Amino acid sequence: MLDAPLLELRDLGRRFGAVRALAGVDLTAARGQVHALTGANGAGKSTLMNLLAGVYPPSSGEIRIDGRAMQFNSPLQAREAGINTVYQELTVLPELSVAENIWLGREPRTRSGLLDRRAMLARSATLLEEFHLPLDPKRRCADLNLATRQLVEIARALSSSARILSLDEPTAVLSPSERRRLFDIVAELKRRGLLILFVSHRLDEVFEIADEVTVLRNGERVFSGPMASLDRDALVRHMVGHTVDERGRVPVLADPQRPQLQIRVHGARGATELTMKSGEIVGLAGLVGAGRTRLARRLAGREAGMKADYRVGQKQFSIDSAAAGIRHGVIYLTEDRKRDGLFANLSVLKNTSAAALPSLSRLGVVDRAAERSAVVPILQRLRLVAASLRVPASELSGGNQQKLLFGRALLAKPILLICDEPTRGVDVGAREEIYALIDTLSREGVTMVLVCSDLKELLMLCHRLLVVRGAAVVAELPAGASERDIVGAATEVA
Ligand SMILES: Nc1ncnc2c1ncn2[C@@H]1O[C@H](COP(=O)(O)OP(=O)(O)OP(=O)(O)O)[C@@H](O)[C@H]1O
Ligand SMILES: [Mg+2]
Repeated sequence: MLDAPLLELRDLGRRFGAVRALAGVDLTAARGQVHALTGANGAGKSTLMNLLAGVYPPSSGEIRIDGRAMQFNSPLQAREAGINTVYQELTVLPELSVAENIWLGREPRTRSGLLDRRAMLARSATLLEEFHLPLDPKRRCADLNLATRQLVEIARALSSSARILSLDEPTAVLSPSERRRLFDIVAELKRRGLLILFVSHRLDEVFEIADEVTVLRNGERVFSGPMASLDRDALVRHMVGHTVDERGRVPVLADPQRPQLQIRVHGARGATELTMKSGEIVGLAGLVGAGRTRLARRLAGREAGMKADYRVGQKQFSIDSAAAGIRHGVIYLTEDRKRDGLFANLSVLKNTSAAALPSLSRLGVVDRAAERSAVVPILQRLRLVAASLRVPASELSGGNQQKLLFGRALLAKPILLICDEPTRGVDVGAREEIYALIDTLSREGVTMVLVCSDLKELLMLCHRLLVVRGAAVVAELPAGASERDIVGAATEVA
């Protein structure tokens, strides 16, 4: 069939037990295009990509490539058909090197069948050079940050000849310059005739790179068409069913005279001191690798061997572990859900109440009614989509896992809330809720430290910005600074 589209989905559906993740989806996409998939958290985007990737089979309908109905019994078969996928929850194995991860399962062998390490490194080098990926093939992945591990995942997807490349929220953890590099790669792949399926909750990006868009809602397709036929409001309306008032403002600290919080963190190159007013939201800005996450983790006592000393009003205490942080009300919301956030096998309820159990228990026994009535309203406000409070966190969509972590942090009644990428992968409606909650917390006197790779978001939320380098503070910018100011300050001190 000469004129058949590269990809055609017919009446595609998938159920998980009672949950209907995808139903009756039709979609046609041509080569040499970027086709965006959008929709609120839990709409079915990752499910669609997983079906294409052969992770699990559809419950109904079919996938056609070049007009031929396909059946994938494994991810390997999908790959052999030319479908490569960069998953939302990264699958890089931390104990392996960059090169080993790229060629996993397809390692070059010597004639005697042994692993040919030289060939593997050489091939990696060629690949990384071709796409200008700044990766060292010999590095162990455990030592890489989330954004760099994402690049490894992309390199792996580019390493076999693909016809379709699925990118499930590839930009959620990327800095502006890393995102630029990814978009350059996407443009190049488009020129080579690939079809790129692209998921992102950052709508600016969708408008920037997509040619076509399909919108999913509750597992169904509600719109397909050229990107140019929609404006932002129309797209949001398709996604969430109503428009969302996206704010723009310069935050003002309500009562700047209130008592202060002082923190001293000890690092490799001496101590860093931070002084914050109660209710103040301080943003950490910096170039890639500047150590924003490292600093944030140190503040929360989460970097081994580095303690943080606190003085809050008359009280003094030190934190040198996650548990000590929680005990003193210093709560860290992780950027890396897989590493130190989610308890994948625990229920939604237990995950949310995890850091608040002392206040929900009497004589060491959890008061189940109190637990429920604390958890339910906050998850409702965050519009968490889950079959029930009892399902394990691993069954939630990526954005809903993020909402769960945010809910947990709120319930813990923090005095200092340290948020690393709080809206990572969260849809446009819930993101506004998170902004509003951050606002409310600040008014209630909760002090916050924010790390956020989206500079617009950082500027909109923070009362003050600290420019970070080498995991230490090197400059300060007031609220009302511009994106340019941040980039300027970050490069000046570099
Ligand atoms: N393995 C699973 N078991 C049970 N339910 C699942 C499983 N995977 C997904 N679901 C459910 O299917 C629905 C669609 O999830 P999916 O991950 O496709 O959403 P998504 O559009 O990718 O959302 P997000 O933007 O948050 O990543 C959700 O209700 C989710 O809880
Ligand atoms: Mg998803």
